[in-house]
Amino acid sequence: MNAAEFETIVVETDLLILGGGMAACGAAFEAAHWAAKNNMKVTLVDKAAMERSGAVAMGLSAINLYLGLKDGNNTVEDYVTYVKNDLMGIARQDLVANIARHVDSSVHLFEKWGLPIWKDDDGKYVKEGRWQIMIHGEAYKNIVSEAAKTALRELGDNGEYFERVFITEPIMEGGRCVGAAGFSVREKKFYIFKAKAVLDTMGGAVHIFRPRSVGEGLGRSWYPPFNSGASAYFTLKSGAEMTCQEVRFVPVRFKDSYGPVGAWFLLFKSKATNAKGEEYMVTRAGELDKWAPYGQTKPTPTNLRNLLMLKEVEEGNGPIYMHTEDAIRELLVDIPDEKEARRKLKELESEAWEDFLDMTISQALNWASHNIMPEETPSEIAATEPYFISSHSGASGAWVSGPEDLAPSDYFFGYGNMTTVNGLFAAGDASGASSHKFSSGSFTEGRISGKAAIAFCVDNPDMPVISDERIAELKEMTFKPLEIFDEHKDYSNDPDVNPNFIKPRMFMFRLQKIMDEYAGGASVGFRTSKALLEKGLEFLNLMKEDSSKLAASDANELMRCWENVHRMWQAESHIRTIMFREETRWPGYYSRTDFPEMKADWEVFANCKWDPETGEWEMIKREVVDL
Ligand code: ADX
Repeated sequence: MNAAEFETIVVETDLLILGGGMAACGAAFEAAHWAAKNNMKVTLVDKAAMERSGAVAMGLSAINLYLGLKDGNNTVEDYVTYVKNDLMGIARQDLVANIARHVDSSVHLFEKWGLPIWKDDDGKYVKEGRWQIMIHGEAYKNIVSEAAKTALRELGDNGEYFERVFITEPIMEGGRCVGAAGFSVREKKFYIFKAKAVLDTMGGAVHIFRPRSVGEGLGRSWYPPFNSGASAYFTLKSGAEMTCQEVRFVPVRFKDSYGPVGAWFLLFKSKATNAKGEEYMVTRAGELDKWAPYGQTKPTPTNLRNLLMLKEVEEGNGPIYMHTEDAIRELLVDIPDEKEARRKLKELESEAWEDFLDMTISQALNWASHNIMPEETPSEIAATEPYFISSHSGASGAWVSGPEDLAPSDYFFGYGNMTTVNGLFAAGDASGASSHKFSSGSFTEGRISGKAAIAFCVDNPDMPVISDERIAELKEMTFKPLEIFDEHKDYSNDPDVNPNFIKPRMFMFRLQKIMDEYAGGASVGFRTSKALLEKGLEFLNLMKEDSSKLAASDANELMRCWENVHRMWQAESHIRTIMFREETRWPGYYSRTDFPEMKADWEVFANCKWDPETGEWEMIKREVVDL
């Protein structure tokens, strides 16, 4: 196969939405409204099928961000404080507040579209924790994507969505982002999308670090394996400033199948202990003082909860157990009537299994295959490998403009959620420093960005020009791995071993080994140092050279090639930013052994930028402004 076999299709649009997850759906839904008023076209491109794409593909058992502002229990300020504390002080409070003040309306839309939300006897949403509500969410993404598709369909010729089209590269003209190149993984088609404004919502990144699941478990991860760093690659290659690229998320999950812990900790009030039955959050509470003032905040920041657990493991006190059996027994204690207690037990059992069946089916299979009955047997929990996800308890992504009415002047550059590159917007896992937006907040941030991007199109009405030479160049670059494979495939009898090229699977293994061993992965206890990072960067640079030899035997493998190029860029920005931040701010996510303390003068954003003209990296400190 080669580039010539692929038909070139040029699509012109006003707003181009890249991605099909929750943020993209929110953007399509909201932008369609403003596009209709201004006779604008909205085009969405997803690498998969929107019904089951993005981080919510498998479903969810809870919506982790709902304030219930109308009930008066929470305020936007409370939420901002919670997020700031959970991220050890590093958060863009303007962005967090902007999402928080609008998120309830998004949740109400989900319910209107058919999402079943648990209700109590008074008809109120059942809360999992202070900010979380329980849902029957197996079909959450199907419901939301249908609403987004309907909004696009209602625009007639002015609304279009492409599925199974993989985006490889941003297109720039005169410092402005004017579109994207990609190809279909099902048809022999090469796409050039030309746009007045581009919104990057292509998710976070997984499989950059060597996963704990290897061999027969390969591919299993907490975050979806198909989110492979496209967002960060797109903004980095456009020359946009990035923030918090050092902030990875290491979730503690039910071991090996990555089942969610939120419902157990918050709804069922379950406790986690070491193998001796000691509750480490209690016995080690004193160790949190070192991380003042955040160590003492309630709830304890996610990374510090990890830290206490990791210490138990390090000292040989594993396995770590989630005591589901004790939690269920506790919930039955106050029910003296035997029949009623039996009924309640059945209800709790079914809620426990649904928690997994709604969002992590493999965890239910794990329980079944290990003869685990949650009402009788505790389950192991463990820290996973690191992920890049700014919508949960990580923060990596593009540095974007805040809202005009809330953002300090340094944080506002014209249009809400626009990056530092003209015409390029980012939302969901693509925008940084606004953690804990989760599914509902990502959808909401998509809405905010979609509206702002249409305003940009209204103010910048000329359709950009992309030269034929540039299109030809992009096409050649996109399909090069197919040509390399064709040219050299007969040299050896095993396509994985060939001195003339490297297959994407092998390339990924190499990347994961470097990141795991030098950048503080799971196998080294999430610890690294300048010397290790420098060595890792040296190896990464050699990989960059080898990336020009990536080879693909078909369109699916071509996608794998590009996914790993995207991962490699996310990896490089991560190593560079960890190296830049000379302190340990998020122990439990990673520690710098050469700078083991948290330092007051590092209570700042660590940003980075790659210059498309010179190929140089720039590291930038930016102030954290308390609103
Ligand atoms: S999920 O994405 O798989 O649902 P998770 O199970 O970690 O996430 O948690 C769901 C929600 O509960 C998140 O908002 C998370 O921050 C919060 N959470 C989980 N465990 C705890 C805990 N022990 N204390 C406080 N909050 C928690």
